[in-house]
Amino acid sequence: MAKSKLMMLFVSFCLLSVFSASEVAPPAAIFIFGDSTVDVGTNTLLLQSGARADFSPNGVDFPYSVPTGRFSNGLNSADQIVKLFGRRKSPPPFLYAASHMSTFKRNILQGVNFASAGSGIFQDTGIKRWTEVVSLGNQIQQFAAVRGNFTEIVGFKTTDTVLSKSLFIISIGSNDLFELVEYFPNATDLFKAEHMERLQLTYKNHLKNLYKLGARKFGIISVPPIGCCPYARVQPNVDPSVCVKELNKLAQTFFIETHALLRKLSSDLKGMRYSLGNAYEMTMSIIQDPLAFGFKDVQSACCGYGRLNGEKACVTIFDPNLCSNRQEFLFWDLYHPTEFASQLAARTLYGAGTRYMTPMNFSQLVASY
Ligand SMILES: *[C@@H]1O[C@H](CO)[C@@H](O)[C@H](O)[C@H]1NC(C)=O
Ligand SMILES: *[C@@H]1O[C@H](CO)[C@@H](O)[C@H](O)[C@H]1NC(C)=O
Ligand SMILES: *[C@@H]1O[C@H](CO)[C@@H](O)[C@H](O)[C@H]1NC(C)=O
Repeated sequence: MAKSKLMMLFVSFCLLSVFSASEVAPPAAIFIFGDSTVDVGTNTLLLQSGARADFSPNGVDFPYSVPTGRFSNGLNSADQIVKLFGRRKSPPPFLYAASHMSTFKRNILQGVNFASAGSGIFQDTGIKRWTEVVSLGNQIQQFAAVRGNFTEIVGFKTTDTVLSKSLFIISIGSNDLFELVEYFPNATDLFKAEHMERLQLTYKNHLKNLYKLGARKFGIISVPPIGCCPYARVQPNVDPSVCVKELNKLAQTFFIETHALLRKLSSDLKGMRYSLGNAYEMTMSIIQDPLAFGFKDVQSACCGYGRLNGEKACVTIFDPNLCSNRQEFLFWDLYHPTEFASQLAARTLYGAGTRYMTPMNFSQLVASY
């Protein structure tokens, strides 16, 4: 069983390398929004933010082991997806691009990354804990400014055309769900259901705003099983050998509701297309059969401190443990996947079938008219 899965995976990877960068014409530009799963250095440029990874051992597998602000031993999913579309360079963080005038124009025509660790769909998510994050709403405002710059360079008509052929990737929601459980520990089911409904209404407004600004192709990544991350497993009164059900249930609800939202929006908004990646299902497949995907440890963090290395973040001053076999770990730190795991995720988003990607995968989304 495991062997045949591995074989299938191998075959699909070989197919992928044939398709990638050759079969699918790359998107005009790639714009990335979201949280730490796709932050490539935004928070490094926020002076007040406590949600940051610009210190070792983050980046340990980069040349010279430089920490880049990514919560990873190397690249993250944002980088990996862009690579599959044949791009050598990951779009730079908006705050970096905006402060480098000489390369600004060239940069924004390729795409920009607005993602900010700790942020959420709600405007205030992450603020209490991390002091400063760029919420999804503010990320979209930054995009509006970039769009303005775009029109100054190429004019209105070309801007509309280019944006309609660009890929808009959004990976967000985990922090909103963590906060629901942490800030409302005694919430009733009704309260939670209403909270999730408000979350979707807010998400809907964000997506509509992006559409109004010219976005047409939405590559959306749902929330992974956050109840299985080392941080959740080592909470008090939790059995670390099983995932926290409440968090996972919220993640599943989030997927179902986001799917319904996207179906509705794409029938209401002319020309809108989407591809929704089921991060819950992707990660669960790995957790349930680690060896089939090449993993040996799917519970503990490679870098961290305490039980499952999940009690403290991967931060230099904590003098964290650091594993040497990083290819074999699902989790890099208490929340985030390793470079290897995010590479698998990116390949799934790019080219997998309907078990993980609805109604199409990212490469089909980009190829669609
Ligand atoms: C981009 O647009 C913003 C907002 O309109 C403006 O402040 C900024 O100077 C522009 N940047 C460039 C390089 O044109
Ligand atoms: C939640 O309930 C527990 C006991 O059931 C209580 O000790 C705690 O103070 C409550 N928390 C909040 C934030 O209301
Ligand atoms: C998704 O992507 C691949 C590669 O572009 C494509 O060949 C394939 O048909 C897609 N998979 C499914 C099941 O639609």
